[in-house]
Amino acid sequence: MKLLLSYLITIILVYFQPTDAKVTEDWDSIDSRTVPDWYDKAKVGIFVHWGLFAVPGYDSEWFWNEWRAQGKIDVLEFIKQNYPPGFTYQEFANQFTGEFFNATEWASLFKRAGAKYVVLTSKHHDGYTLWPSKYTYSFNSVDMGPHKDIVKEVGDAVRAEGLRYGLYHSLLEWFNPLYVADVANGGATTEFVDNKIFPEMVELVNTYQPEIFWSDGSWDMSDVYWKSTKFLAWLFNESPVKDTVLTNDRWGNNTNCLHGDIHTCIDRYNPGVLQAHKWENAMTIDWRSWGYRRNSNIEDYATTKQLIELLIETVSCGGNILINVGPTKEGHIDPLYQERLVSLGEWLSINGEAIYESHPWVKYQNDTLTSGVWFTQKNGFTYASVLDWPENNVLKLRAVSELINSNTRIYILDGNRELNFTGDNGIVSIEMPDRAGVRSNDAWVIKIQ
Ligand SMILES: *[C@@H]1O[C@H](CO)[C@@H](O)[C@H](O)[C@H]1NC(C)=O
Ligand SMILES: *[C@@H]1O[C@H](CO)[C@@H](O)[C@H](O)[C@H]1NC(C)=O
Ligand SMILES: *[C@@H]1O[C@H](CO)[C@@H](O)[C@H](O)[C@H]1NC(C)=O
Ligand SMILES: *[C@@H]1O[C@H](CO)[C@@H](O)[C@H](O)[C@H]1NC(C)=O
Repeated sequence: MKLLLSYLITIILVYFQPTDAKVTEDWDSIDSRTVPDWYDKAKVGIFVHWGLFAVPGYDSEWFWNEWRAQGKIDVLEFIKQNYPPGFTYQEFANQFTGEFFNATEWASLFKRAGAKYVVLTSKHHDGYTLWPSKYTYSFNSVDMGPHKDIVKEVGDAVRAEGLRYGLYHSLLEWFNPLYVADVANGGATTEFVDNKIFPEMVELVNTYQPEIFWSDGSWDMSDVYWKSTKFLAWLFNESPVKDTVLTNDRWGNNTNCLHGDIHTCIDRYNPGVLQAHKWENAMTIDWRSWGYRRNSNIEDYATTKQLIELLIETVSCGGNILINVGPTKEGHIDPLYQERLVSLGEWLSINGEAIYESHPWVKYQNDTLTSGVWFTQKNGFTYASVLDWPENNVLKLRAVSELINSNTRIYILDGNRELNFTGDNGIVSIEMPDRAGVRSNDAWVIKIQ
């Protein structure tokens, strides 16, 4: 009888496995879905902001809004000085030429950077789509501009490099009359969502099968207006990517940092302590803009060391980093961005063992004695990423003292050497190698067995 009972219980458990369960159109159900694990392992992604805003290449990707809605003085002056009276934003499409756009070159650069996934802006807040959407009435990259299906070309190239492909999509469109009307009556009508956004998102997913649906531009209206849970239930139950796709948290003015698989919270989110929920630090190498700026200066860009620091802090606290580049209107990625990405990739090729597929150390994210030392763990090892080379070549750590016993061995990943150490009064003193003999300049990883 007991055996039979346990047999029955097993049958019931197997039959009602949560992975087989469909999500329903509410956040409780959506948030309790089993999240595909590839994303947490990947840690490093590249974000690409490309669109008509790269043509003026001035101020930021919010150019149209700054010009027509905010009336930002320098932008108004820039238009007055450089364009004829009556010039419209749509006319930038003629100069959005993309003659140097080569998706294969982009993808190979992103791979070289050590990224495991790429997220492209399929449509920003201006409404111009980088694919020939049925719902854009010619305001897209096949009918106007480069005459190419950019979403498809980038996706094919990225996947050919073995990277995962995600798409950014803006819910709102600043000047779409349907949207403006819906907002004006407080969301009592949903014409824009029903006739434009919902079918457009379904088209995007069915056609290009993104494995991250990175939503943005939701802040004016609630998730109810956007019909977000209805879309996500479709995405997770019916869509061609239902088993591998993840989504972020920007699905309404009431969802950031609360719902979705990946909490992005605010731009450049970097909490500095372990978070209970999976999160992403979406940041940009140009501190001042996500889109390309023709008048940027060297000081505006994160240094390689800053990039590596952000990566290390982010991963130690349970996040992924999504590093943005803004290609030029010709479709070229500026050599300064290239230099940063290639340098990051070189660092990761030596030290990536501490990053990819790692987990945070739940007890400590950074050392309690020496600042600028951040921890991760994997396969029974603890990794300490060290941002400042220690004085006198001796690295003193307190947090790891509780891991040390007579069998402990300590290594540096750079050059794969074993290091001598002593443990005393709760402080572990690690003898670093001769600095001249290590390849990295920006950060070093100590591996504790
Ligand atoms: C894109 O770049 C690759 C690598 O440099 C090259 O082999 C290929 O011919 C280029 N494609 C086009 C369409 O120019
Ligand atoms: C969110 O948007 C709705 C309209 O969909 C609006 O009624 C509500 O006041 C907004 N809430 C906040 C906190 O802005
Ligand atoms: C560890 O990180 C926390 C959060 O950023 C910070 O407050 C603390 O000062 C750091 N500790 C050290 C020793 O750097
Ligand atoms: C470790 O200490 C021993 C004994 O002092 C020394 O011979 C050896 O060179 C040291 N190893 C390293 C990697 O510093």
